[in-house]
Formats: sequence, structure tokens, C-alpha cells
Amino acid sequence: MFIVDQVSKVYRTKERKGFFKREWKEVEAVTDLSFHMEPGKIIGLLGINGAGKTTTIKMCATLLEPSSGSINVDGLDAVKHDRQVKAMVNMIAGGERMLYWRLTGRENLVYFGSLYGLTGESLAARIAQLLKQVGLEEAADTPVERYSKGMKQRLQIARGLINDPKYIFLDEPTLGLDAPIARHLRQHVKELATEQGKAILLTSHYIHEVEELCDEVYIINKGKLVAHDTPEKLTKSLFKESTLRVTVPFLPESLARDLHHLTRSERGRWETVELPESASVELVFRSESDLTTDVIAALAKNHIPVLRLTTEQPSLEDVILHLAERRSA
Ligand SMILES: Nc1ncnc2c1ncn2[C@@H]1O[C@H](COP(=O)(O)OP(=O)(O)OP(=O)(O)O)[C@@H](O)[C@H]1O
Ligand SMILES: [Mg+2]
Repeated sequence: MFIVDQVSKVYRTKERKGFFKREWKEVEAVTDLSFHMEPGKIIGLLGINGAGKTTTIKMCATLLEPSSGSINVDGLDAVKHDRQVKAMVNMIAGGERMLYWRLTGRENLVYFGSLYGLTGESLAARIAQLLKQVGLEEAADTPVERYSKGMKQRLQIARGLINDPKYIFLDEPTLGLDAPIARHLRQHVKELATEQGKAILLTSHYIHEVEELCDEVYIINKGKLVAHDTPEKLTKSLFKESTLRVTVPFLPESLARDLHHLTRSERGRWETVELPESASVELVFRSESDLTTDVIAALAKNHIPVLRLTTEQPSLEDVILHLAERRSA
């Protein structure tokens, strides 16, 4: 188990004040954050820019020491036993950092493997296996500067898996990747958890990625935990209503009356929006129950054609923004 217990991080930086003067400034990036990771599970760490996600990941990956609190990995304290913990964890970041461009893919992996004390035959075998796993066998001996973005990202993954970590931290792993490459990568991440039993923590600004991959999500805002649940439960608990939008050419009195009755009996609300550019009217219904069938029946009864119909379920993105706004209000 990977247990993060009441962890905080304060950055101290020197800020220029006037021409000669410099002043210490403190930024509390993470405050009393607790969560845990288990084998085979993917958890998401979400929050708007500057929420403290990368700082949290860096502490988990032993790249940064917490200012207070503790991180315990399979019974070992991450600060006191950082060498042993380092061997069990690794971090993969999106973008094109952390690779040597002049070296080939294989040479990069040899270098990063050596940082974990891996050498010789066993390292060569591990690298061959990883290159195959991420589909870079053919490009293994090409300098990284000639790699495409997707290839670099696949090499990053191989780099992050070089020490066969039990706990994997992915910081925006699909950042800047094309849709098919990102999809392939998500598939790979899922398999690392389901087939290899890795415990994974993921941050992402692509909400559908989180909904697709994560078993649970932790939402942080200004370094503090504001919500923790499954993606479905989080959206349902905060936004019970769904929205139905129907565009019609006009709204006769009789239809308005029917819709009024209908929404009242279902304890919903509705309003109309004039769309002058298309000479039509949009009817917007908000309700906890699904009104689609009843609304269509009312339209048919009044012989009004439907020009357009959409339903909107609240998304996890709504939840994050809602929580961030509520906390900073
Ligand atoms: N090295 C640093 N020195 C000082 N302050 C820092 C440092 N790194 C991050 N911060 C500050 O800590 C806070 C959290 O930053 P962090 O990078 O962890 O957020 P994030 O959630 O990863 O954001 P993003 O979504 O933009 O990647 C921010 O206020 C940031 O300005
Ligand atoms: Mg970040």
C-alpha cells in the first residue's frame, strides 16, 4: 500500500523587491493531503492549474520532500528510506522533458536504468522487453531527436517503467498527443493496472480520460482535498439535474400549457430562448427525472415538429469548476 498521510508542502522562494532587496515568499502548494493507492487501481488527482497536483506527484516519487506529514510505501517511510522507496516508484510526465535527444531510445533507457543500479544482461533484457511493450523496437537505435511526439512519449513510458515500479505516477501523460496516440496510451495505462497489477495515480486536464480510466478521483483546490469519490458518484452527488434542449419552429399557447403541467408534475423547470437567426425557439428543461419522452409526446399532440434535440449530463469538469469556485468564493 502507498499511504499519503496529512502531507503538506511549502515552497520558499526569493522574490525581488525593488532593485536590491529580496524577500522570502512562502507558497503553500499542498495542505494536509491524505490518500492511498492499491495494486490494480487507478486513481485520479484533479484540480485546476496550480492546485498542487505536480507537487504531490513529485513528493510521491521522492523527488521532493514534504514539509510535513508522511508518505509510507509498503511499510517504509519515503524520506527515511528514500533509496528503497525510489526503487518501487516512478513518474511519467507528459510533454517532452526528461529524455536525452542526442542519445538513441535504447541508450536513454540504459542511462536511466543505470540510475537504478541496473546493468548488463538483465538491463539489456528489460530494455528489449520495454521497447517491445511500447512499440519502439524498430526505432530503438535512432536518436531521440528524430522521434515523433508520440514516439517520445512512448519512450517516456518505457523510461518510467525501467525499474518495474509497483507504484506509477502519471502527470498529464497524454499532453499534446494526437487522439489516436492518446487512446492507445490510455489502453496501455489500463493494462498496467488490470493485467500487471500496478497501482497508478494519474493527473489530467482531459476529463474524459479520467472518466475512462480512474476508479476513484481526488479533487484538490489550492492544495486542499475538496472531494473524493468515484467519478460517477461525484457528478451525481453534486448535479442531480440533467438538461434537455428542444428546438421548435414556434411555441403555440396550447403547447406551452402542456409543458407547464408536465414540468410541474415532475418538479422540473423550463424556459424558452428565442433564436431569431434561425427563426425558432429553444425550449430548455431542467429536471432530476428524464423528461424526453413526455416532452416529445406533448410536441406530437400539438403537431409541432422537432428541429433539434439534445440532452446534457453534467460532467466531471462541471464538478471540478464548481468545487473550485465554491471554495474560492
Ligand atoms: N518550484 C516551485 N517554487 C515555488 N512555487 C512553486 C514551485 N512549483 C510549484 N509552485 C507553486 O505551487 C502551487 C502548485 O503548483 P503545482 O505545479 O503543483 O500545480 P498543478 O496542480 O500541477 O498545476 P498545473 O495544472 O498547472 O500543472 C502553485 O501555486 C505554483 O505556483
Ligand atoms: Mg502540474
